[in-house]
Amino acid sequence: MPGLDPGIHAEPRKVHDAICDATKRLRAAGVESPRRDARLLLAEAMGVSHPALLDPSCPLSDSDSARFVDKVVRREAREPVSRIRGTREFWGLDFALSPATLDPRPDTETVIEAVLAAYASSAPPLRILDLGTGSNCILCALLHEFPAATGVGIDIEHDAIATARLNAARLGFADRASFVVADWASAIAGPFDLVVSNPPYIPRTEIASLAPEVAAFDPRRALDGGDDGLDFYRRLSPALPRLLTPTGVAAVEIGLRQAEEVGRLFSSNGLEVASVRADLSGTPRAIVARMR
Ligand SMILES: C[S@@+](CC[C@H](N)C(=O)[O-])C[C@H]1O[C@@H](n2cnc3c(N)ncnc32)[C@H](O)[C@@H]1O
Repeated sequence: MPGLDPGIHAEPRKVHDAICDATKRLRAAGVESPRRDARLLLAEAMGVSHPALLDPSCPLSDSDSARFVDKVVRREAREPVSRIRGTREFWGLDFALSPATLDPRPDTETVIEAVLAAYASSAPPLRILDLGTGSNCILCALLHEFPAATGVGIDIEHDAIATARLNAARLGFADRASFVVADWASAIAGPFDLVVSNPPYIPRTEIASLAPEVAAFDPRRALDGGDDGLDFYRRLSPALPRLLTPTGVAAVEIGLRQAEEVGRLFSSNGLEVASVRADLSGTPRAIVARMR
């Protein structure tokens, strides 16, 4: 990698030059925010807690430079910064990632907001079920918000459940969270006060056209929602009357243009849609429903 290769310069390279070189390379690779990512990766390589703390005139040691090169090469291949760093912040909490887990998205915080709004004037939920828990980001955020609650996280991937369990322990929720490897709620009796899910909802034929950061690095099982993206909601809707207490709440994330059809599926299974919440870009992103 010309310009980044450690050891080819008579004088140690400076932070500023390393960032400029990496920015050029990442831009050429089609990365959307090349300078920001270069700074984040250099801070990570140097063990600096925030890119703002990088001193542009500081020389890079050979080992920092080698670590940086390694990270830039991975980002050039369009691996997301969060996967290179191995962690992602969600709802102010830090989650470890693994190849079996989806990289949690800021949009999914809309589900947490929708749940908090649903319980604004009623007793908080005590028993929570998270279907397709992945990194466990949704369940941990809810356990953080509802200190008396316990939760069950379900995923079909053993490795995702291992990461979910690790995150619950790291964040101090190990004694309030349990985990099951299962096909959705097939192994679960309930009832729960709150059922949440961010399911796979991308129509299968659209996956290949997603950004490489998603299509090549998020697990296929976390994305693939079947032919029209709605497979999960068809499975979940008839199960909800069994899974929910009579005053229970279901809150699920949805994809583009899915609000109407998911609402119809809920309605035809004895639930009523209480609210549809938009994400920061104004796209309907979370549906909250209650038993009718
Ligand atoms: C979109 S990801 C959501 C992960 C996490 N909850 C989040 O919001 O970042 C969907 C999750 O559902 C899991 N999943 C897919 N099919 C499943 C099934 N049949 N039963 C249980 N979990 C499943 C995937 O492994 C993945 O972890």
